[in-house]
Amino acid sequence: MIKTLKDIPKLKGKRVLVRVDFNVPMKDGAVQDDTRMRQTLPTIQYLTDKGARVILVTHVGRPKGKIIEELRVEPIAKHLEKLLNQSVAYRDECVGENVTKAVETMQNGKILFLENCRFHPGEESCSEEFCRELSQLADIYVNDAFAASHRKHASTAGIAEHLPAYAGLLVEREIEFLTPLLDSDHKNLTLIIGGAKVDTKIGVLNTYIGKAGAILLGGALANTFLAAEGYNIGASKYEKEKIETARELMMLAEAKQQKMYLPVDAIVGDTISNQATAIDLPLEDIEGDMKILDIGKKTQVIYAEIIAESKCVVWNGPMGLYEYTPFASGTRAIATALASPNNQLKTYIGGGDTVDAINRCGIKEDEFTFVSTGGGATLEFLEGKKLPGIAALEK
Ligand code: ADP
Ligand code: 3PG
Ligand code: MG
Repeated sequence: MIKTLKDIPKLKGKRVLVRVDFNVPMKDGAVQDDTRMRQTLPTIQYLTDKGARVILVTHVGRPKGKIIEELRVEPIAKHLEKLLNQSVAYRDECVGENVTKAVETMQNGKILFLENCRFHPGEESCSEEFCRELSQLADIYVNDAFAASHRKHASTAGIAEHLPAYAGLLVEREIEFLTPLLDSDHKNLTLIIGGAKVDTKIGVLNTYIGKAGAILLGGALANTFLAAEGYNIGASKYEKEKIETARELMMLAEAKQQKMYLPVDAIVGDTISNQATAIDLPLEDIEGDMKILDIGKKTQVIYAEIIAESKCVVWNGPMGLYEYTPFASGTRAIATALASPNNQLKTYIGGGDTVDAINRCGIKEDEFTFVSTGGGATLEFLEGKKLPGIAALEK
């Protein structure tokens, strides 16, 4: 059993270190999509309302143990101030003498935001020393970083060995919504996988091949599968070293008579920009230095029809380079099909970029059954794996 916020006996005056996942898309020092931040507000507010001294820590990007100026969390702390309408003190370190002093002088109900924990080499290696240093800042540890809970790092897992550890309200909610999916009848489930990296999606494909009603592939990930099928994909983004994996997954799908769909047409562009002209082509016509940047119109129709016949859909990964309007139509077609008013259809969406994409389409989150803040974490959870950040709370 995991203990949650309401199990904490007394919060007034307590120093509570809360691991959040504020690894949000940033551009020119501004937060582009604050979904993950907004989803954590109930935990922060619960703690401050009860008079706790709240110490927030997050990672941003992959600085690999070094300080990278662009990955400092100061703009995120500023954005949080606006969301909470409350001052948030920022420190440009996450452990050490200055941080200890800042914690000592904190008043009840106040918030201190520490620097990107991945600037410290001990974070990802989960070093004993860094776990201890972090834990010494607080009396209680709360994990509300569902999206980072598949990482066995100091601030997501290791620290729980040193302090009484609890799940935050977001982690509690994610587990509550995603757990029933694990036990449900997968025959009626359609899995839509897109995005960029084959690696993070192999596990969930392996788990669902042979079980799901249908599997639909899109995005740069589908390009790797198309290349494995022998299609000429021109100069499209794909992962050469994952072609063999893609081939194996397709053979597995065939052996298990799994309906697994690949795009039948593609959108290419004359440039990669918001002014680009999008051209829809059958796959056979892709050649030379053409780049597949989205699923084509025919594929969009086929995928929307399959969605309409499904009872439950799990979607992770955009269908194309959605950041540019000419290549966003495939992703928008999926989002629209999922948000269509059909009370019978249950829809689960995960992935930082996928959530950003649906927000850009102007579709409200409450049009879906559940929007998870996790990407890799949600996929690993749905594979049935125990996430280290959650397992650490069970001790
Ligand atoms: P999520 O964060 O939702 O899990 P991913 O991180 O796996 O999704 O992938 C999202 C990224 O994939 C986006 O930046 C998107 O532009 C990119 N992408 C999707 N399709 C293509 C494509 N055909 N060519 C290049 N990039 C693509
Ligand atoms: C995510 O964006 O999926 C999480 O913040 C985890 O980030 P990571 O893949 O760099 O560990
Ligand atoms: Mg992403």
